[in-house]
Amino acid sequence: EKDGYASFMLKEIAEQPKAVADTLLGRIDPSGSLTLDELRITPADLRQIDKVVIVACGTAFHAGLIAKYAIEHWTRIPCEVELASEFRYRDPILGGRSLVIAISQSGETMDTLMALRHAREQGSKVLAICNTNGSTIPRESDAVLYTHAGPEVAVASTKAFLTQLVACYLVALYLCQVRGTKWGDEIQAVIKDLSKISDEVERVLETMEPVRALARTLAGKDTVLFLGRHVGYPVALEGALKLKELAYMHAEGFAAGELKHGPIALVEEDMPVVVVVPSPRNRSLLHDKIVSNIQEIRARGARTIVIAEEGDEAVVPYADHLIRIPATPTLLQPVVATVPLQVFACELAAARGNEVDQPRNLAKSVTVE
Ligand code: F6R
Repeated sequence: EKDGYASFMLKEIAEQPKAVADTLLGRIDPSGSLTLDELRITPADLRQIDKVVIVACGTAFHAGLIAKYAIEHWTRIPCEVELASEFRYRDPILGGRSLVIAISQSGETMDTLMALRHAREQGSKVLAICNTNGSTIPRESDAVLYTHAGPEVAVASTKAFLTQLVACYLVALYLCQVRGTKWGDEIQAVIKDLSKISDEVERVLETMEPVRALARTLAGKDTVLFLGRHVGYPVALEGALKLKELAYMHAEGFAAGELKHGPIALVEEDMPVVVVVPSPRNRSLLHDKIVSNIQEIRARGARTIVIAEEGDEAVVPYADHLIRIPATPTLLQPVVATVPLQVFACELAAARGNEVDQPRNLAKSVTVE
């Protein structure tokens, strides 16, 4: 059933172009308008919303962090993201005009379930973004958008994450459509790029051999750091989480702007630091700042592993290893930028002799709080 792949994880990484295409299937029509029929929350209710609150755990939480950037930028609705396990204990401010989005691959995560129950008790509408048909979280929600990634067997989440991102983008863009926010050229261009994103994921997968080779050379390291800015920051967190859970290495993700506020003290001679670089085209200020960050850590001895868009020449002099990803709109970049990090963690774990599909101490679905 692994179809010749060495692990379910590798198989599921390879399935991502199809998974992403399946999440989009039937939801964008040729004229560029969105149909989310299953969303049982009426357009009238969606127009009333004054706040979005996302609750999730682990990798799904990282998808939520990325969704916040997209939701706020495109819809102008304030959006909070919270770890489901923390949510109800701080007495969150919720009401009938809050839309709570619960993201969960399994649909059975107890922390997320308890958070959504709390939200419903406060009178909020809950939308589940879920991969498992008929599981508890969608059953207890007001509405559900299924990700249609197909069963995910490996404990480490890969294709579910990419499809959670796509589902979040769809919800954000649908909110623009029903509310009329920015409904014009900018959003139409994003919808067009989103409908082609599966091909871009395919292109990234075709270039992963050097990433595998690099990962194998790092099997003896103790620590790997991950840096990003803007949507690249949650991507860095996700890269670090994958490495922890699979390779059992010390891995940490940071917002690159925080480096000088502490984390840069960690950098040692030949320590691998993976940097997710934003597109040089759109937010060029951010791009230039991260190039300076790369210079700073390299001056302190870091071995820089740079993930940058094709055509970004500014990073070349400071990259000990350069991983290219296709150019995408800024907010969609996580869909392509995460893939090399999945491959990196999977290969490093295998090189360390770890069981990739069944990491120690972890379960695929966490049904206790
Ligand atoms: C990491 C991973 C976990 C899950 C988390 C939430 O690779 O798989 O962090 O993302 O336990 O699980 P779901 O999405 O099933 O609620």
